[in-house]
Amino acid sequence: MDGTAELLEIDRRYLVHPLHHPEEHKAPLLVTEGKGAMLHLADGREVIDGLAGLWNVNVGHGRGELADAAAGQMRKIAYASAYVGATNEPAIRLGEKIVKHAYANSSAIYYTTGGAESNESAFKTARFFWKIQDKPNKTKIISRMHGYHGVTMAAMSATGMPAYHKMFGPLMPGFIQVAAPYPYRWQGNQECGIGAAEAIEKAILAEGPETVAAVIAEPVMGAGGVIVPPESYFPKLRQICDQYDVLLIADEVITGFGRTGRWFALGHWGVEPDIVSFAKGVTSGYLPLGGNILSKRVHDAILNAPLDRRYMHAATYSGHPVCCAVGLRNVEIIESEGLVERAAVMGRRLIEGLRHELGELPNVGDIRGLGLMAGVELVTDKGTKAPALGVGVKVAREAMSRGLMMRARPGSAEPATGDTLCLCPPLSTPDEILDKIPQILREAVTAAMQ
Ligand SMILES: Cc1ncc(COP(=O)(O)O)c(C=O)c1O
Repeated sequence: MDGTAELLEIDRRYLVHPLHHPEEHKAPLLVTEGKGAMLHLADGREVIDGLAGLWNVNVGHGRGELADAAAGQMRKIAYASAYVGATNEPAIRLGEKIVKHAYANSSAIYYTTGGAESNESAFKTARFFWKIQDKPNKTKIISRMHGYHGVTMAAMSATGMPAYHKMFGPLMPGFIQVAAPYPYRWQGNQECGIGAAEAIEKAILAEGPETVAAVIAEPVMGAGGVIVPPESYFPKLRQICDQYDVLLIADEVITGFGRTGRWFALGHWGVEPDIVSFAKGVTSGYLPLGGNILSKRVHDAILNAPLDRRYMHAATYSGHPVCCAVGLRNVEIIESEGLVERAAVMGRRLIEGLRHELGELPNVGDIRGLGLMAGVELVTDKGTKAPALGVGVKVAREAMSRGLMMRARPGSAEPATGDTLCLCPPLSTPDEILDKIPQILREAVTAAMQ
């Protein structure tokens, strides 16, 4: 047995993977190296990383600067508590940078170790905020169908994808999901953005505004199929949140750190959230790190709380020095290489390429995106938009055999949503590699649909 085969046998014996099923783990990919937008597999293949890892490797693979940042910090001090009364330089320097790149109302950072934990912290922080305002009953969270917020208990309860609930229910009480601003599939009488924002208003009124703490929304839904809201949606949602005293949590775990062509995405629509959840791109996935960006009024609630009502929230690895040192160096790379601006330019190029190569194919219903994240929704009939189901995995397989690694969001018959091919390459992907993606996908879709 060669080294790889032996390794994989031990893997199957001892590991349980995210979304595990043994049927789908018979021949797992073993990635051995990465350079820029390319991955090297143990079987000798080289493929384009069309999803930048899991939407996170913004600066690309194999960055020696990030390895050096981690090693340098580990040699100085690898771990030190950041609990109240203690701190460390990388956490401080990174926090200042993030606040400066975020929204005009952004004021402070609370660190976590990943996306779901950031959302858990955001929910708790929203509850804390209202308790400080002497509104202790404002605890409920409203989210949207197709939203993905992670799969810890509360994050899963906000996630609007039933496949993640099926074997782990019931959901936590006080989580309400409403229609998403999904232009391609919108069926309401009103314009999609306004109608979808008003669906949230209806939910707030049905629950009672005095019981609702926050609305959580990804600026662009990622795992749900790269769903870009209409221009009208977030301004209207912000107005509704203000009207009913409800906080707006922006889940920018994917959209943060340049992905959409801005440091943070709600700026596309001139909207500022009360809390931002971030993770993934903050370190480009080189180490686990996440956090919340708190707006001034939320920060003030923590600063002005009486001692006996303090922000009693914590994690051992909040403000981890090594993770923050890597985050700091990663943000410096994004700055110095102009990767935010590049995401905007390359994103337009990717969408144009996809429209050119795939637009006329009979099974391609919708091509959408913002910055360097794009989705291609598959249908069986362009006129009726009848969803194509079960083909996304085949397209992914065909793409892989042609040198492109990507993922497909599985669709469903009810509500009707076609399988959607998701693309989110590193922001540093060179032009000539980016241009191959639509070409490979055209061949892959054509082959899979035969
Ligand atoms: C928007 C969004 N929020 C939260 C998460 C959960 O992050 P994690 O897997 O780090 O818990 C993800 C992961 O894909 C995500 O895309």
